[in-house]
Amino acid sequence: MVSKIQLCYHGYSGLVVLMYVVLCAAISNNSQKVVLQANRDNLKPSLDSLKPQQIHISLGNSATDMTIMWATKAHDTSIVEYHTGDRQKAIKVVGETMKLDTTNEDGAKYLHRVCLHNLQPQLKYFYNVHGESIDTVSDQFSFTTPPVLAGNLHSYMVYGDLGTETRDLQFLLQEALNEKYEAVFHVGDIAYDLNRGQGQIGDKFLRQIEKVAARMPYMTVPGDHERYDEFLHYRYRFSMPNLPWPMPADNLWYSIDIGPIHFVLYSTEVFFYDESNIDKMLLWLKTDLDKANTQRSATPWIIAMGHRPMYCSVDNYSEDCKRDKSLVRTSLEELFYSEGVDLVIAGHQHYYERTWPVYNKKAVQYNYREPAAPVHITIGTLGSVYMSDKSTNVGGQWSAFVLSETGKESFGRLKVFNATHLHWEVRECANNKLVDQMWIIQPFHRPFNLPRVFIPNPLGEMGEKWLQSENEDALGLESFLGLSGSHYGDDFQTKLTVLVSVFVICVIGLMLRKKILSFIRLCCLKQEPCNKIKAVVHSNTGANV
Ligand SMILES: *[C@@H]1O[C@H](CO)[C@@H](O)[C@H](O)[C@H]1NC(C)=O
Ligand SMILES: *[C@@H]1O[C@H](CO)[C@@H](O)[C@H](O)[C@H]1NC(C)=O
Repeated sequence: MVSKIQLCYHGYSGLVVLMYVVLCAAISNNSQKVVLQANRDNLKPSLDSLKPQQIHISLGNSATDMTIMWATKAHDTSIVEYHTGDRQKAIKVVGETMKLDTTNEDGAKYLHRVCLHNLQPQLKYFYNVHGESIDTVSDQFSFTTPPVLAGNLHSYMVYGDLGTETRDLQFLLQEALNEKYEAVFHVGDIAYDLNRGQGQIGDKFLRQIEKVAARMPYMTVPGDHERYDEFLHYRYRFSMPNLPWPMPADNLWYSIDIGPIHFVLYSTEVFFYDESNIDKMLLWLKTDLDKANTQRSATPWIIAMGHRPMYCSVDNYSEDCKRDKSLVRTSLEELFYSEGVDLVIAGHQHYYERTWPVYNKKAVQYNYREPAAPVHITIGTLGSVYMSDKSTNVGGQWSAFVLSETGKESFGRLKVFNATHLHWEVRECANNKLVDQMWIIQPFHRPFNLPRVFIPNPLGEMGEKWLQSENEDALGLESFLGLSGSHYGDDFQTKLTVLVSVFVICVIGLMLRKKILSFIRLCCLKQEPCNKIKAVVHSNTGANV
């Protein structure tokens, strides 16, 4: 018995000692780990704080430059590696890092920008981003650069007023991925607001849109919801073409040519909060649009976008667009008319409206064939609180279509087919149902205050067609002869006659070249009449002197 008890006792004590040792070891190990972790935090930021997030891209200074941006919680270098399919040939580009001044300890306040230059048009590029350590490398994303040749289709997603609480955001993002737009234009009021919660809402929004914004250029203009602290968050979190970064508060406007389109993006906020910059922006707009009008054969379409509309049919008479002397309209309409801006797109009002071609509050026509004034679109249909802006009466005879208070979140799809045909449509996010559409057919892009001038083409109608032809292949001799296009086949006889005549004249010239040359020589160097003429000239000059 005793020995049994003793054994048992010894057994228990042994177990207790063993447990004690194990426990101590575990505790000491744990505390060591905690200490180590603390040390590492002091010396080196954790991997999590260096992980790139909110990756988004935008067009650089031209359609073949791409700007890549992201954010991290801790400071790190900014590196992009990109290639066109062969990882071995990846090119590494180092960019800049900036710190956004917020008090949010957990915010991703280190912002990174890398610019890729001279990419090939219409080519798919793969890229990832990382910092100093390759352990921080992001997922791989890809984007496709816009095509530049005439005859290519260009399609864009367009909307304003999108925030983190937009109900159909997931549908919207899926639509963007399905359609593979060339770019997305978000015409102001971003995230509601980028700066809210010390930037937490901005961080959240940019993480939400990453799967789209990392794959297609996300182009923006500032709205009234971006104006906090002199547009601080907007200027740091985005980087737009032909602007330094962070974007200067007194220069939040830019333009870029993509294929046949000159996009001009401006800030309507100067008219409300930033009056010292009105003249600066208007001068820039005029200079930019004057230049665009000298290049209208290359970029026939001019599309202008700014946050606030100059025409609207909302009920609220306090809105600028409802006022008789709307600041936006009185500042911009005359300029856009005299510079021949084809389409003006805005947001701000949380509803949708399309106007007829309109000038000075009057529709100039009730269709879109050869418009004689700009057409206006307001697409604020994603709104912070959906479609909160009521519209019970149309604002004037210039209004062509209004959609408000239907509870259906929708977006715009802009397609430019060629120099003459542009298509605009609005679709519901949730089911892609068509809400509205129009074709603008404009064969005579020009300042609208100038009469339409026809300069007859010396080659006649046939030559006119040949010059206007959009098809690259159709610009060659084959098309002139009518060999490639069926349209021109009727004129084959005429063309053949012209060509044969030219050929015959050339052959005769070649055969008689000796005679012709000797005739010229005889006439001008040896024969009397020529000398006589010379003498007269001499005597004349002599008399004058
Ligand atoms: C009407 O518009 C003004 C100016 O934007 C705004 O401050 C006000 O809240 C609006 N009123 C309503 C009822 O939406
Ligand atoms: C431009 O595109 C439209 C729509 O696809 C087409 O009907 C039209 O023929 C095209 N014009 C030219 C000149 O190619």
